[in-house]
Amino acid sequence: MSKLKQQRIILTGATGGIGGEIAKLLQAEGAQLGLVGRSKEKLEQLQKKLGGSDIRAVAADITDADGRQKIVDQMREAFGGYDILINTAGIMDFTAFVDQSDERIEAVFQTNVIAPMQLTKKVLPYMLEQKKGHIVNVGSTFGSIGFAWFTTYSTSKFAMRGFSQALRRELADTAIKVTYVAPRAVKTALNSGAVYKMAEEVKMNMDAPKDVARQIVRSVIKQDKERYLGFPESLFVRINAILPGLVDKATRGQNKAAKKYLS
Ligand SMILES: NC(=O)c1ccc[n+]([C@@H]2O[C@H](COP(=O)([O-])OP(=O)(O)OC[C@H]3O[C@@H](n4cnc5c(N)ncnc54)[C@H](OP(=O)(O)O)[C@@H]3O)[C@@H](O)[C@H]2O)c1
Repeated sequence: MSKLKQQRIILTGATGGIGGEIAKLLQAEGAQLGLVGRSKEKLEQLQKKLGGSDIRAVAADITDADGRQKIVDQMREAFGGYDILINTAGIMDFTAFVDQSDERIEAVFQTNVIAPMQLTKKVLPYMLEQKKGHIVNVGSTFGSIGFAWFTTYSTSKFAMRGFSQALRRELADTAIKVTYVAPRAVKTALNSGAVYKMAEEVKMNMDAPKDVARQIVRSVIKQDKERYLGFPESLFVRINAILPGLVDKATRGQNKAAKKYLS
């Protein structure tokens, strides 16, 4: 029997490129799903595509306290609670940091860091009480290697990696597991046309969302602590941690080439 059968899972970013594929796989595993996104239309389309029961679509903005309350309320109403939270929702900019607005820096941090932390805090008391729970944070290679022209996004993913590590250690004596899983670039709408052009020129590897979703679900099942997807990116993560000066030099040409695609 699948380890995820009848597990009650909150999936944020469910209507996105990666999230939609994760939802499909979780459904095939027999999970009970709370699918979260802001757009009602996109959620309806996803629900129609998936079919079946055991799905509750929750139209909610995770950066909003009422939105987060709605998510837990709907999960309790539909399934009596929740066992797993997968924080997938995220936003990104490909821009020179100097040109980014203060509002946008705040929005990226609210969506990619603060809201997932607050949602995690919201579900933890119940998970601790039922002595069962799993928090899964979707990060990025950019959360270990600071990338030029993705400065704010990179910084937000560094924060999520730190949050995952610290929380995992804080909860070590409880039944709650924490997973951080970091894909490399993925072919989804998160990336603008300019990013696709840039990625082609600098030969950045880009994975299919279906393959990435499969790896993420595998990490959920195995309750991995940390997982970095793709080779050689997973190796560069290690090298950058030990010898960042080497990576500064190695990426200089790439950063220069990427600059001309900035809008
Ligand atoms: N694509 C890549 O190259 C790549 C690489 C590494 C890591 N990742 C990470 O993978 C995750 C998923 O990315 P993706 O490529 O699937 O992105 P995507 O296709 O753009 O989907 C983003 C999802 O987040 C939701 N979302 C955004 N803001 C929200 C908010 N305030 N409240 C609720 N939902 C919100 C969107 O739904 P609504 O717009 O309807 O709200 C959508 O479902 C992100 O955390 C991203 O950082 C992506």
